[in-house]
Amino acid sequence: MSKTILKLKKSHFNKIYWPLISDKSRYEVLYGGAASGKSFFVAQKIVYRVLVESNHKFLIIRKVGTTLRHSVFEEIKKAISNWNVEHMFTINKTEMTITCANGNQIVFKGLDDPVKLKSIQGVTGIWIEEAAEITQKDFQELDRRLRGRNKHYKQIIVTFNPVSASHWLKSYFFDRKLDSCSITKSTYLDNKFVDKGTLIALQTLKETDPEEYEVYALGNWGTTGKTLLPKSFIFLQEEKHAMDPLPLQDEYEEIKIWAEPIKNVEYVASIDPSKGTGNDNHVLQIWTRQGEQVLEFAINDLPTEFFARKCDELMRKYNDAFCIVENNMGDLVLHILINERMYPNIYFSFNTGRAGFETTKTTKPIMIADLSDALREESIKVRSRECLEEMKVFIRKENGKMEAADGCKDDRVIAASLFLQAIKAYGGLAGYSNNSAL
Ligand SMILES: Nc1ncnc2c1ncn2[C@@H]1O[C@H](COP(=O)(O)OP(=O)(O)OP(=O)(O)O)[C@@H](O)[C@H]1O
Ligand SMILES: [Mg+2]
Repeated sequence: MSKTILKLKKSHFNKIYWPLISDKSRYEVLYGGAASGKSFFVAQKIVYRVLVESNHKFLIIRKVGTTLRHSVFEEIKKAISNWNVEHMFTINKTEMTITCANGNQIVFKGLDDPVKLKSIQGVTGIWIEEAAEITQKDFQELDRRLRGRNKHYKQIIVTFNPVSASHWLKSYFFDRKLDSCSITKSTYLDNKFVDKGTLIALQTLKETDPEEYEVYALGNWGTTGKTLLPKSFIFLQEEKHAMDPLPLQDEYEEIKIWAEPIKNVEYVASIDPSKGTGNDNHVLQIWTRQGEQVLEFAINDLPTEFFARKCDELMRKYNDAFCIVENNMGDLVLHILINERMYPNIYFSFNTGRAGFETTKTTKPIMIADLSDALREESIKVRSRECLEEMKVFIRKENGKMEAADGCKDDRVIAASLFLQAIKAYGGLAGYSNNSAL
């Protein structure tokens, strides 16, 4: 096979990354704020090397295999189509491999499947996306995989947001001198392709969550472990608003009701479907537009279809409540509500035009900041004691994620914060802050 000649255009790259296309360091560390173009650049670099070099097998890694398909796999496909070289590649979506006409390969694997990972031989380059999710031990094992001969340079690229100054990534790459390591910091300001919605969301963080702003907008090292919701206001909710539910009246004892539906009252329902990992819950909450919780249904061992149908039944009882669904994992719930049940009142995102609400690195901090404000302003009345318990242990983890402390749940917290996002789309609660994550 003859060598491909690909003439790179500088204008296709962000300025900060252009010199890195020829950086041959063993470790290429790209870190900084969200939407700074890190992932896109690495996809470009790998596609470029695959096209012009020979005997390559690039391994692209994330902690969780199921997240690959919607992230890095798409990034690589985008880089290929941006350069109009689709005809050079065979894309196998099932196997998650991309093969170039010259025999080079790109394979995608999750660290959660160590058996499959071990079966991959002859790796000549590695990209670890969202490296803050993985442990130092995982990294060192991958590093060992990249030994042996190849005529081209061998490189491990790591991309991440600097979520915590106590993360191993900091001590490993930053606090000591490592041979053959290049480090590049970038923020959204370095990305000339950044879209307006993201830009506004990141700038909004300055007011809503200064700590998140530090990490995701400015690309500086963050702190972790702190609870994120104001404890004293959670206690206030417990004292003033938490209540015992009405006597059980449904086949499911997991359904708690604090107020029966009232004619002509507008209700809002929020749904956080289970991710199917461990023992997390499917959660449905129903609230009045004034912010009073009237129902909670939290269950973990019910098939998603059954859960969705029960939601449909309950929401219809509450005057066809306006319904917001977390759609990262909620595709099946949305599918059933829309296509099977023809539920009439569903939230669509202004931004994407899609049904449901997408929790991302930029929307989640705003959701949590809004929930925090609503607790402080007492603009919501949380009836569920379990929900308030979850709020007390909702923290920023070492991996940068905002979620429940180990061994705890946060699905009710997410449902409550989704309710507030629906309320914003609906026109707002009185006295409620107006920073839109939509
Ligand atoms: N060279 C490019 N050409 C076209 N679009 C680009 C380019 N670089 C970045 N973008 C756009 O900017 C968006 C954000 O970039 P990217 O996802 O690479 O950021 P990131 O730094 O990896 O962010 P995060 O830290 O959130 O993972 C991309 O989805 C893409 O739309
Ligand atoms: Mg990225």
